[in-house]
Amino acid sequence: MGTQAPEFLKTIIMSYQNILVENKERIQYIIINRESKLNALNQATLVELRSAFEVAFNNSEVGGIIITGAGKKAFVAGADISEFSGTDAAGSVELARLGHNIFNMIENGSKPVIAAINGFALGGGLELAMACHMRLASDTAKMGLPEVTLGLIPGYGGTQRLTRLVGKGKALEMIMTADMINAFEAFEYGLVNHVENQENLLPRAEEILITILSRAPLAISSAITAINASQSGTDGFETEIESFSKCFQTEDLQEGISAFLQKRKPNFKGK
Ligand code: COA
Repeated sequence: MGTQAPEFLKTIIMSYQNILVENKERIQYIIINRESKLNALNQATLVELRSAFEVAFNNSEVGGIIITGAGKKAFVAGADISEFSGTDAAGSVELARLGHNIFNMIENGSKPVIAAINGFALGGGLELAMACHMRLASDTAKMGLPEVTLGLIPGYGGTQRLTRLVGKGKALEMIMTADMINAFEAFEYGLVNHVENQENLLPRAEEILITILSRAPLAISSAITAINASQSGTDGFETEIESFSKCFQTEDLQEGISAFLQKRKPNFKGK
């Protein structure tokens, strides 16, 4: 992550307390940085995450995002439990909506987001990873939704996204037992796309993202929209037709076709 962030981002980077933002060419890293609390998501961190994602989605110099946790022990060990004690029922609705809004924004964003799960991804941490478009786990990672051990259920989309990713039976087992699974079990379940050793985790995430960034950006964005529609309760087939037709309004499609016919690499502009 040697490349310096643009001036515009530097201002914002400096104002964050709980996350780090770094740019490496067209990849933006968002690193949750509360290592002493295993990167637990307090409300301040959630709000900073929202801001960092908004900036990344709106910055044309950013092609895609990798989110990870500071240190080697945790991606995110859940919502910050210490903030639950003073929360009443009304406050809990607000808290859940805050989490839902941010995680929905990530899932429905126009740019690819990869979660690099470098350790514990528990509760809100796994919910955050599940809102990303792909998940890579280190071979030391442990994942789970342990909320019932506290007298809670997942509240940032976990009951829905886990069920979609691993199926109802495994989701019920994971949520009701609160047991953690290791990275290889998560791979078998279809919860993570790849398992890497700790050193290879970020390089592999970058490699995959660089491949995605070599493709036509508006087509990638349309693919995200169409695939998300398969799980949104809307008619995903209709969304696919609309998204497919949007591609025909782009200069990049003409460039892709010309490049293929001229046997050269395409030079996509995101237009
Ligand atoms: N919220 C707030 N603080 C948390 C946290 C969370 N979700 N997870 C870990 N921490 C804090 C601990 O309180 C501890 O802080 P302290 O040093 O000030 O006491 C620090 O992070 C280190 O955690 P610790 O429990 O000492 O590490 P460990 O290696 O013994 O255990 C875990 C690691 C992940 C098994 C354990 O921290 C844990 O169970 N965390 C809660 C997981 C959870 O229930 N998440 C869902 C929340 S809805």
